[in-house]
Amino acid sequence: MRHALHSRTFCASTLLLAVAWPLAANASAQLAVDHGCYNCHGANLRDEAPSMERLAQKLSKYKGDPAAQQKFVDKYRAGEMFGHIDAHERLSLESATALVRWLAEGGK
Ligand code: HEC
Repeated sequence: MRHALHSRTFCASTLLLAVAWPLAANASAQLAVDHGCYNCHGANLRDEAPSMERLAQKLSKYKGDPAAQQKFVDKYRAGEMFGHIDAHERLSLESATALVRWLAEGGK
């Protein structure tokens, strides 16, 4: 009886993980939509803006390296690197971190 209870708990947490993982990725994609990233990085590229695929390609060098991602986030939010783009600088630390991690992991 006790054993059965344990295995049911295990199942539930495994299931939760399986459900939460794709949800987290979709939440970041939604974040990019909500913050208008696609206005410049989407189908109709504006100014010098690289496409989302290109961004993901560039940021893939930070894949699996949270420290490097954080360093990039700081510079990015400070607006130092790309001539002050409001959409970049308005992001909260949480949103910027989530978006950079998302892009570094492929942006899908
Ligand atoms: C107003 C247009 C605009 C919007 C909106 C915008 N960007 Fe950008 N972004 C740019 C431009 C232009 C550059 C490239 C500047 C350059 O290369 O000099 C850039 C560069 C970047 C880079 C750096 C790429 C590199 O070379 O390392 C990242 C990452 C990025 N944008 C992510 C985002 C995200 C995420 C959002 C949504 C929150 C967003 N951008 C919204 C215009 C925009």
